[in-house]
Amino acid sequence: MSEHWLERWRGGRTGWHEAAGNRGLKQHWRAQGRNVLVPLCGKARDLRWLAELGNRVTGVELSPLAAEAFFAEQKLALRRGTRQGFEVYESVELPIRILCGDYFAFTETGFDAHYDRGALVALPPELRPRYARHTLGRLAADALQFVVTVAYDDAIAEGPPFVVREAELTSYWPRLVALDAYDDSDDMPPKFRDAGLTALEERIWTTPS
Ligand SMILES: C[S@@+](CC[C@H](N)C(=O)[O-])C[C@H]1O[C@@H](n2cnc3c(N)ncnc32)[C@H](O)[C@@H]1O
Repeated sequence: MSEHWLERWRGGRTGWHEAAGNRGLKQHWRAQGRNVLVPLCGKARDLRWLAELGNRVTGVELSPLAAEAFFAEQKLALRRGTRQGFEVYESVELPIRILCGDYFAFTETGFDAHYDRGALVALPPELRPRYARHTLGRLAADALQFVVTVAYDDAIAEGPPFVVREAELTSYWPRLVALDAYDDSDDMPPKFRDAGLTALEERIWTTPS
């Protein structure tokens, strides 16, 4: 599984990346002053958006190429270090750090916010319960959670990104409630279009404030 992602980064096959950041995040996230955990963060522009809003941001990502691409594309100077077996890439000017390594080996705790886009839905069904439990273990009890899922007819096309339905999602993270849903068919992965899919929605879930 890890090799699959590392290979995608090596080959530059990162079609999930949203250069302008996530629409739902920008529309609905208002929290400031939080210590935000972003698992499986890739090179998401959202890390910067969250930090510029006034949050401290910790991304965890398998591929060092992703961390390097994030700092290069965002034109942010970085400091490098190591911490508990992870290579750490830290911004000099913004409170952003990306820890490179396997998320399941990441043991920091006490985050009071969690942003999840392209993380839960990137994982196959058999890995999702472990991912969800591991994430809860990193969060404070009353942490804000903000999760983006996708909805499409998965009888026609198969993920990733996978459809994670409400019953499954709330079995992992019971405090989540639906906040918004919007058409995102224009950003559908080409393999979905090739399979004959015509519609895809993004759904936003969050914990009530
Ligand atoms: C679909 S991409 C989404 C990236 C990002 N969240 C975004 O929205 O652009 C999934 C990312 O998870 C990373 N990843 C997969 N398994 C991981 C693991 N066990 N630990 C850390 N990162 C992982 C991959 O390298 C990839 O960058």
